[in-house]
Amino acid sequence: MIYFDPLTKSFHLQTNKTSYIFQLLNQGYLAHLYWGRRISPPDPSYLLRYVGRAFSPSTDPSDLNLSLDTLPQEYPGYGTSDFRQPAYQVQLHNGSTAIEFLYKSHRIFQGKPKLEGLPATYVENQDEATTLEVHLQDSISGLSVLLSYTVFEELNAITRSVRFINEGKDPLRLLRVQSMNIDFHHALFDILHLSGAWAKERWVYRQPLRPGIQSVESRRGASSHQHNPFIALLDPNATEDTGDVYGFSLVYSGNFLASVEVDQYSTARVSLGINPFDFSWLLEPGEEFQTPEVVMVYSPEGLGGMSRIYHRLYRTRLCRGVYRDQVRPILVNNWEATYFHFNEDKLCQIAEQAKELGIELFVLDDGWFGQRDNDRTSLGDWIVDRKKLPNGLESLVQRINDMGLQFGLWFEPEMVSPESELYKNHPDWCLHVPDRRRTESRWQLILDFSREEVCDAVIKMVSDVLTSAPIRYVKWDMNRHMTEIGSAALPSERQRETAHRYMLGLYRVMEEITSKFPHILFEGCSGGGGRFDPGILYYMSQIWTSDNSDAIERLKIQYGTSIVYPISTIGAHVTAVPNHQVHRVTSLKTRGDVAMSGNFGYELDLTLLTAEEKDLVRQQVNQYKEIRNLVQKGEFYRLLNPFTGNECAWMFVSDDQCEALVFYFKVLAQPNEPLKRLYLKGLDPNALYEWIESGEIYGGDSLMYAGINIPFLHGDFTSFVWRLKKRN
Ligand code: DGJ
Repeated sequence: MIYFDPLTKSFHLQTNKTSYIFQLLNQGYLAHLYWGRRISPPDPSYLLRYVGRAFSPSTDPSDLNLSLDTLPQEYPGYGTSDFRQPAYQVQLHNGSTAIEFLYKSHRIFQGKPKLEGLPATYVENQDEATTLEVHLQDSISGLSVLLSYTVFEELNAITRSVRFINEGKDPLRLLRVQSMNIDFHHALFDILHLSGAWAKERWVYRQPLRPGIQSVESRRGASSHQHNPFIALLDPNATEDTGDVYGFSLVYSGNFLASVEVDQYSTARVSLGINPFDFSWLLEPGEEFQTPEVVMVYSPEGLGGMSRIYHRLYRTRLCRGVYRDQVRPILVNNWEATYFHFNEDKLCQIAEQAKELGIELFVLDDGWFGQRDNDRTSLGDWIVDRKKLPNGLESLVQRINDMGLQFGLWFEPEMVSPESELYKNHPDWCLHVPDRRRTESRWQLILDFSREEVCDAVIKMVSDVLTSAPIRYVKWDMNRHMTEIGSAALPSERQRETAHRYMLGLYRVMEEITSKFPHILFEGCSGGGGRFDPGILYYMSQIWTSDNSDAIERLKIQYGTSIVYPISTIGAHVTAVPNHQVHRVTSLKTRGDVAMSGNFGYELDLTLLTAEEKDLVRQQVNQYKEIRNLVQKGEFYRLLNPFTGNECAWMFVSDDQCEALVFYFKVLAQPNEPLKRLYLKGLDPNALYEWIESGEIYGGDSLMYAGINIPFLHGDFTSFVWRLKKRN
């Protein structure tokens, strides 16, 4: 719930377990007071402390100690005496940037309004959340901001976003529009972020905050492989299971900036939003600009506690569509099996084998359209290649369906190959800057999704294919980053809006296509996990996690991804050995166990497996069918961290604590290994659990506090799985 206390002029935002408090000062500023465990102070005013400091100018002649430079604020600006990083910066008609927002009014109401044109968390019933909107205004320019806060009581999360409204007479230019800001009264935190590169996405990095600005960002036109739009601040003593953790996750798929500034007085200012680098937005009188949403989670139960809050919220109130609550089909994808070199018979052989092994969905990846025998051509020409598929798509889908498998198809709708009919007909439909080189990456250019007619054409091209045959799954790929970011349709003063307008166009295209084809399961992808972010999850409830499918590499990638993202969203496939990315050889069992810890599938030529391997695949498929509800919807606990040791382990527990599933992985064999135990989590301490495979009975308390014995595993890259069931 949210309430405003008129006596202390404070706003209390409460979830079941947390409080977030800020105060309206007489001058009209909003001062941040507290965020953490739920508290009910009769008067929280004592939490606001300030003293006069040298070189921090006084803002109010009647209170010489008050300076914006030292005040912990909710949404600070720059130019009127705060020297820290601002949440916003606006250039007015007269060229100045010194503006100041003061309180005008507020309203509190049940539910959560939609964010126009942007992905966001949502409610199904109005009583699931409460929203506060605070209206601030700069009286000189007439520019207003609406700060929105929504509290998900049960789910223990708070979302924030900001709307700029030009209520003045003159146009102005938004230069920086962060979605949130918090000024913590201290800076005794570690910062954690998820960073990496192609084929090693979302590795976990944690380091102490230091004076100055520390940030992660994307300037690539996509949320990126390099940095995920997420940071957490942790008490330096916080662990996986204990201690204060504050998470900040941006529901956006484009350029972002997440930054923390530790100032001269050892306070920490956190902000997150669209990257102000290379961004500006012209706001004419009467126009509005909506920022994306930040989802903020506080947990006193360590990183694991924070992750489980994000998992539940994102799985149930960010992901949408019929597949949100359904277990996902086990698929086979032909990419690593054939790459571009296939024909109808080859695909059908793989599909037949897949059916025989119990797999449910066949996915035809890149190479089915235009003259796409390699990655140099045909993006944009979404017409089936009759050389490879002489009977057309419909006949192939029919054959696959007749086998009893569903059919899925790959697209890369945002791209165009210079060698394509589409490019020949519309050379100005790509992002470009007049007279400059059009930099190619993977021999392709990016379609200008800031243009309405381009988006409409893409919607039509994709829809035509999707209506041409009973397609039940789409993999939506995106394989390069933006360069020469300009649009032929925008005037010069709006060129720096292109990257964000692209995202708005992309979201419209995704919204229209996914709602037109509600029976299709969409999987996001960007050269693996280059756009694994909450923005995409709003449209596509699963994402291909990484092009690196090596089981051992995947331990870190999937562990890091699980810091924020639900397991149901994490696409994970068994591929061939030697692995195509790192050339490592691992056993089929280990590959299966790693992939079964996510949204499971195969991506290899099943027809080449030995009889023994096929038996194991059949068992894995059967096993996953039994456990997938638990894996995809259960509570997830990380047990051993692959970034800090030779082992990795995690487990899944059903909501009613009746079922649990534990995965243990050992990277390298060790001589004379100690006899180790693994300490489980999340079980009912008072219950008895049966280890299904052995019939042995254990107490929930002993499994958690005394541990379960880890068997000796011989050789490198091994794994072990326990399935536990509560005894009545
Ligand atoms: C990149 C994806 O991540 C791969 O899985 C595959 O679909 C290729 N693109 C196809 O070009």
